[in-house]
Amino acid sequence: MSTGHGPTPSINFDTPPTDPFPILEQWLAEAMQLPTPNPNAMTLATVDADGAPSARIVLLRGLTRDGARFFTNRESRKGRALAAHARAALLFHWDALDRQVRIEGRVMLASDAESDEYFAHRPVDSRVNAWASAQSEPVASREELERRATEMTARFAGIDVPRPPHWGGYRVSLDRIEFWQGDKYRLHDRIVYTRRVGTSGSAPGDYGVERLCP
Ligand SMILES: Cc1cc2nc3c(=O)[nH]c(=O)nc-3n(C[C@H](O)[C@H](O)[C@H](O)COP(=O)(O)O)c2cc1C
Repeated sequence: MSTGHGPTPSINFDTPPTDPFPILEQWLAEAMQLPTPNPNAMTLATVDADGAPSARIVLLRGLTRDGARFFTNRESRKGRALAAHARAALLFHWDALDRQVRIEGRVMLASDAESDEYFAHRPVDSRVNAWASAQSEPVASREELERRATEMTARFAGIDVPRPPHWGGYRVSLDRIEFWQGDKYRLHDRIVYTRRVGTSGSAPGDYGVERLCP
């Protein structure tokens, strides 16, 4: 059993369960109890058409066995990278729990229906600004940005703001999941789950699991 500093030693790293999904759900649920803002923030790393990596924070908005979902502008820098290479790495770090989770997988577009549903629940100003901001493109000034927001507010006055065609969700499949629990003197606990090719990740034996040196 881990002697990590987290609130509950939730994994036995020597005899880990065959299914990583409940652990992932539990660690996220425990992180969501933290008093810090945005415990669902994760670093999203992508690779562009030239093979150059880039990383930024996005918010996890839904986790299922099909993958970890986030929403963004599909014409942004990350959107262009994902169009070139539909693979990504996600990283959570919860310092207060002394935990890190790394996820790697293939990236798929979320359906129009789920993107519509999520967009409809956003505050109206956020919906308007999804139209106003050409994410990742240069803009001359704060004033110019606000001018575009005002213009879009006027354009959509009195109507239900629709989802821009370039805005939507992505899902990163849970092909590799690593759980890291900090421990004393750098003798941390790590286990990595690797999904066997062609499996859905929901049946016993779909993942292989190994303990790694810290
Ligand atoms: C706490 C936090 C949460 C964020 N959440 C999102 C998000 O869910 N979606 C998004 O597109 N950008 C989000 N951002 C902004 C991104 O980090 C990034 O600046 C933006 O998406 C443009 O990235 P790109 O130019 O690499 O495409 C967030 C930033 C922070 C600091």
